[in-house]
Amino acid sequence: MSNLKGTIETFIQETCENIKKETAGRPVLCALSGGVDSAVCAVLAHRAIGDNLTCLFVDTGFMRKNEGAQVTALFRDTYSINLIKIDAEERFLNKLKDVTEPESKRKIIGEEFIRIFEEEAKKLGKIGCLVQGTIYPDIMESGEDGHKQVKAHHNVGGMPLNIEFEAIIEPIKLLYKEEVRECGRKLGLPENFTNRQPFPGPGLAVRCLGELTKYRLDLLREADAIFRDEIEKAGLQKEIQQYFAVLPGIQSVGVRDGARCYEEMIALRAMTTKDFVTASFVRLPYELLEIVTKRITSEISGVNRVVYDVTDKPPSTMEWE
Ligand code: XMP
Repeated sequence: MSNLKGTIETFIQETCENIKKETAGRPVLCALSGGVDSAVCAVLAHRAIGDNLTCLFVDTGFMRKNEGAQVTALFRDTYSINLIKIDAEERFLNKLKDVTEPESKRKIIGEEFIRIFEEEAKKLGKIGCLVQGTIYPDIMESGEDGHKQVKAHHNVGGMPLNIEFEAIIEPIKLLYKEEVRECGRKLGLPENFTNRQPFPGPGLAVRCLGELTKYRLDLLREADAIFRDEIEKAGLQKEIQQYFAVLPGIQSVGVRDGARCYEEMIALRAMTTKDFVTASFVRLPYELLEIVTKRITSEISGVNRVVYDVTDKPPSTMEWE
């Protein structure tokens, strides 16, 4: 599947020309999320307009373990791109207090992102355009371009209507994921970045079901880091397109240190897919699941049970919310 008419090289060349034309010398902001989509957009825009580009990285508090530091290091040190990092964890948690309904979470997060960008843009002076890393499956699943809606992606359907930027530029909106990675490789992004598994804009917020608190998010962040670490130690990261932990918000009875405990459960999900539109669960070795489970339940106090999600997409989506 592809919407491309020519090669990736032609795409890069034409896209850079278009960005230059569309932005017309105006200062441009790029929303950096930590994922490969926005990274490719940032590098494309940087190639097109150089220092006219400022990247904003909002640390929502919904990032994976160490993610903020990795993003800052890559863009500031390797690319010398103007990068502003905003620590917005408290702000997001306050906005989402008591919100448990999945679509409300997505819309609130999407709206808050835009508000932060608008505020930062104002601080920077006159900024005309916003660059976003929307890709084609986001558009399909948000019910645009003649497709049925699955869920509101924070950068498409969740977008508030009163945006203050003069133009929103979505340079890779026709690309599928693999094409985005290919584009990143051609642009010289390091392999550990181009091969990065996708991570949703609302981040761990859509993997932490129910109420979003720092305690629950930290629990999930640790479990997710352990799962990813063991998948990588087993050398399986290239075969599995997406693998992560979920906190379903179910507590159950267990035994810890010889006494009854009532703690959270972690669900693990690992999926193979070509296009992220359909996907199959991975038959992970039981030995690996056992190691991950033992680590999670012994290293994280507050988790006494781990389950593995064996549902394909459809009927399930990759994310739980
Ligand atoms: P689902 O859960 O719809 O996910 O099967 C398909 C792919 O999209 C990612 N995803 C998102 N990406 N903003 C994004 O940029 C979002 O709101 C969002 N929701 C899901 C998901 O991780 C998977 O790779």
